[in-house]
Amino acid sequence: MKIFDVYPLYDIAIVKALGSDVWDDKGNKYLDMYGGHAVISIGHTNARYVSRLTEQLSNIGFYSNSVKIPQQAELCDALQKVTHKDNYQLFLCNSGAEANENALKLASFHSGKSKVIAFKGAFHGRTSLAVSATDNPSIIAPINRTDNVIFLPFNDSAALENCFASNNDIAAVIVEGIQGVAGIVEASKEFLRTIRSLCDKYNAIYIADSVQCGCGRSGLYFSHDWAGVEADIYSMAKGIGNGFPIGAILISDKFTAKYGSLGTTFGGNHLACAAALAVAEEIAEHKLIDNAAEIGNYLIAELKKIDAVKEVRGRGLMLGIDLGEDTAVIRKRLLFEERVFVGSASDKNVVRLLPALCITKEQADHFIAAFKRVLGC
Ligand SMILES: Cc1ncc(COP(=O)(O)O)c(C=O)c1O
Repeated sequence: MKIFDVYPLYDIAIVKALGSDVWDDKGNKYLDMYGGHAVISIGHTNARYVSRLTEQLSNIGFYSNSVKIPQQAELCDALQKVTHKDNYQLFLCNSGAEANENALKLASFHSGKSKVIAFKGAFHGRTSLAVSATDNPSIIAPINRTDNVIFLPFNDSAALENCFASNNDIAAVIVEGIQGVAGIVEASKEFLRTIRSLCDKYNAIYIADSVQCGCGRSGLYFSHDWAGVEADIYSMAKGIGNGFPIGAILISDKFTAKYGSLGTTFGGNHLACAAALAVAEEIAEHKLIDNAAEIGNYLIAELKKIDAVKEVRGRGLMLGIDLGEDTAVIRKRLLFEERVFVGSASDKNVVRLLPALCITKEQADHFIAAFKRVLGC
């Protein structure tokens, strides 16, 4: 048997990690400015994380949602503390796509309507409805094609208003606070406020996809919070488990739960909760969201001093460096000559930075020096 070959791979096997450092099987050390695609939030092999998970595993790793799992209530409290969302309910699942899938379904159940507004450049996952709301025809299978999703230009309030005015079947608007896959493109505050007010006016649900831009990465827990308005549903994954597969939606108190309307076998199991609890506690105790803001601002300032950099986009530790030309060679040299992991984006001119929230200023300096060397400046 062999692995179904869907990923173009680097010829590197990572065998060990600590904080923002990882080592390959030959003993080479790398700086992880990619966070395993925004997944590593509190750092690799964080001590609290390892001990919480090992202790939980030695007691019980899994039981189904047919019994009480006290760690779920603990997680509600811990997430309330870090998110500052007081009137929300928590549904736990296993991935970002599944979180969005459930968010969209819930919006449709609640409103009785069937259309969703998504935006150009959006990425919401690869399951049926999530992928239909993703702006990439090459990953939408014929079976996923639907006219229930309406794509509008990003950050275009007038187009959104026109769409609502001419369609009375809009169940939800789904939007990333900062588009990640597209190449780090931020939703304007004005746009997010317009989404909020139009959803109120037309009785639709505002879904904030925070799978990549959430978990404190932007310098606030949810990047959508920069606009100062609340969403009806926040979808979460990636960083909230620091590598343990966990997804979640925060659901405002306007929704009433109904037995059987949502469900999952694995979601919210003992081990997953232990992982998410360790993450939330570590974020709170070490003020990692403040660190994301501080180191992010430092990186932005240093990157803007580099002539070859055309634009720096994003906030906190979700940054896009636009070089105005294809960055493939630069990324490869960063990896193989400087041993620094960074990310790409569908915009080929962009280098994506998504490091752990605990990254230090020394590590930021290490990256800047390496980046300047490969740029030849
Ligand atoms: C904004 C956003 N939403 C949803 C997803 C899907 O998450 P997952 O891969 O965990 O299904 C991603 C993944 O990159 C994402 O960036």
